[in-house]
Amino acid sequence: MTATAAAPAVTRWPLPTIPRTAEEVWAASYPDFVAMVNQTNVMPGAHATLSTWALHSRLDRHHHLLDVACTTGFTSRELARLTGCTATGFDLSADSVALARYNHQLLDPALNLTYHQADGTTYTSDHAFTHIAVGAALGFFPDPPAMARRLLNLLAPDGYILASPFWAPEALPDHAAAVRRDVFGITSPMENRDQALALFANLDVLHQADHTLTPESADAVDGHVIPQGPWSRNSPGPGCARG
Ligand SMILES: C[S@@+](CC[C@H](N)C(=O)[O-])C[C@H]1O[C@@H](n2cnc3c(N)ncnc32)[C@H](O)[C@@H]1O
Repeated sequence: MTATAAAPAVTRWPLPTIPRTAEEVWAASYPDFVAMVNQTNVMPGAHATLSTWALHSRLDRHHHLLDVACTTGFTSRELARLTGCTATGFDLSADSVALARYNHQLLDPALNLTYHQADGTTYTSDHAFTHIAVGAALGFFPDPPAMARRLLNLLAPDGYILASPFWAPEALPDHAAAVRRDVFGITSPMENRDQALALFANLDVLHQADHTLTPESADAVDGHVIPQGPWSRNSPGPGCARG
C-alpha cells in the first residue's frame, strides 16, 4: 500500500488585472509588460552567460547571490538551479517581482529564493552578498556609475560582480535612441565599450569577453512574434554590440 501523495499546491496567476484591450497593453510600462506576458527576461547571453559566471566565480551552495533588477527571476532562479546557491532578487516593478515569486513556486519551489520590490538606488541589506548579478541592468538606472558604486557597498569581501552589459561603438541613431528611451525607459546615455568597462574599473577582472552581434535578416525576424506598434518589420535595429 502506498501513501496518498499530497496534491501539489496550486500556483495562482499573481497579477490582479488581466488586460482586455490593446490600449491596456500599450499603457503598461516595459517592466510591467514583461510581467504581463511572463517573459523570460534575460541578460545578453542568457544561459551561456550564467554558465560562464558560475564557472569563473566558483558559485556554489555556500554562496548568497543578489539579483539586481531581477524582473521575472531568470538569473537568480537559474543560477540557484545550476549551483545550489541561495539568492535574493529585487526589482522596482511590483508586477515583475510577483512573477519572479510565481515562477519560483511553479518551476522549483525547493530553491532558496527571496524576492523584494525595491528601488535599487535606495536598496539596503542587513548582510553582504558573495555574488552580485547585475546583467545588463545598470543602464536602466538614471546614473549607472553611481549604481555600480552602490553595488560595491553590498558586496562581501572577495565577492564577485557578474555583469553582461550592452555597449555600442558609436552614438545610436535617433530612431534607436528614441525606442530605448520611450519603450524601455532607459534615460542614461548608451555606453561605449570603454565606458561599460569603466563602471567596474576598481575591480580585478577575472574573466572578460567581447561578443559581436550578427544582425538577423528581416526574414529571420519574421519567424518571431513581434508586438504591433511604432516599429515596422523592416526598420533597422538598434545595432548594439555587447561586452
Ligand atoms: C531589462 S531588465 C533587467 C534584466 C536582467 N535582470 C539583466 O540581467 O539584465 C531591467 C529591469 O530594471 C528594473 N529597474 C529599473 N529601474 C530600477 C530601479 N531604480 N530599481 C530597481 N529596478 C529597476 C526594471 O523594473 C526592469 O525590470
